[in-house]
Amino acid sequence: MKVLIVTEKPFAKIAVDGIRKEIEAAGFELALLEKYTEKAQVLEAVKDAQALIVRSDKVDKEVFDAAPELKIVVRAGAGYDNVDLEAATAHGVCVMNTPGQNANAVAELAIGLMIMAVRSFFDGKAGSELKGKKLGIHAYGNVGRNVARIAKGLGMEIYAYDAFCPKEVMEAEGVRPVATAEELYSTCNVVSLHIPSTPETKNSIDYELVERMPKNGLLVNTARKEVVNEADLIRLMEDRPDLKYVTDIMPAHHEEFVSTFPGRYFSTPKKMGAQTAEANINAGIAAARQIVAFFKEGCERFRVNK
Ligand code: 3PG
Repeated sequence: MKVLIVTEKPFAKIAVDGIRKEIEAAGFELALLEKYTEKAQVLEAVKDAQALIVRSDKVDKEVFDAAPELKIVVRAGAGYDNVDLEAATAHGVCVMNTPGQNANAVAELAIGLMIMAVRSFFDGKAGSELKGKKLGIHAYGNVGRNVARIAKGLGMEIYAYDAFCPKEVMEAEGVRPVATAEELYSTCNVVSLHIPSTPETKNSIDYELVERMPKNGLLVNTARKEVVNEADLIRLMEDRPDLKYVTDIMPAHHEEFVSTFPGRYFSTPKKMGAQTAEANINAGIAAARQIVAFFKEGCERFRVNK
């Protein structure tokens, strides 16, 4: 049984060691394809793999076609928009994620980006503080909840909008639920995005929505670049010189943001939210255990395709 890790952005070594331990203890073999530069390398590597562990690596129809022995793909992380679920199902492959395992890492980065932005990107000028500001959490899932927990310690007033999360859950955690996304943006000084990328959410963060933010509003994106309508955001930031945008997912129009909005925009060069040893260990080992349980016990907990 060959389990293959395919990571363009590798896990920390300590996480790979932990994954290896789990896989070898089950009597399986572990292979690695890290820092690949060509898709051809992926297509070659998957030829004889029965299981795949990936991060944001693209697993599309071509990959499934090249992997006749494949039975399971585990996305070591939360968002699985990089995996073609229809192609997986057509090939009889089970797809899973590891929800929650890297959530604290992403939440800490979101808070770090907020602090950097309100402190004027550390340019020496007086900035402002997060204490007492209203924070809007757009989607109250694993990452959103962690952001709320940390923001509470900073003394922020926390609001959240999530069409799928009962308001009692938010209230029990000291978070004020709002009924619509519009209300969240109208209310909050800082909005942090934690929605998945789906056909419904793509481009949903648009001019009309972000325009509602009060003066000096800050939009923080550690979710996916696709959820933001970039053309709208550029137009809005031109119309509203008080707004700032910080993101962990470099926009397609990065150069334009950099040149048009000096002092109001920042992007990490590579998605860094889940890049901690702890998150790599948690998500990587969870992925390994889910693969072992799938083959040994037929366990399909965390399956995301039908
Ligand atoms: C996720 O969906 O889990 C995060 O976006 C992290 O993605 P990464 O594993 O590519 O860093």
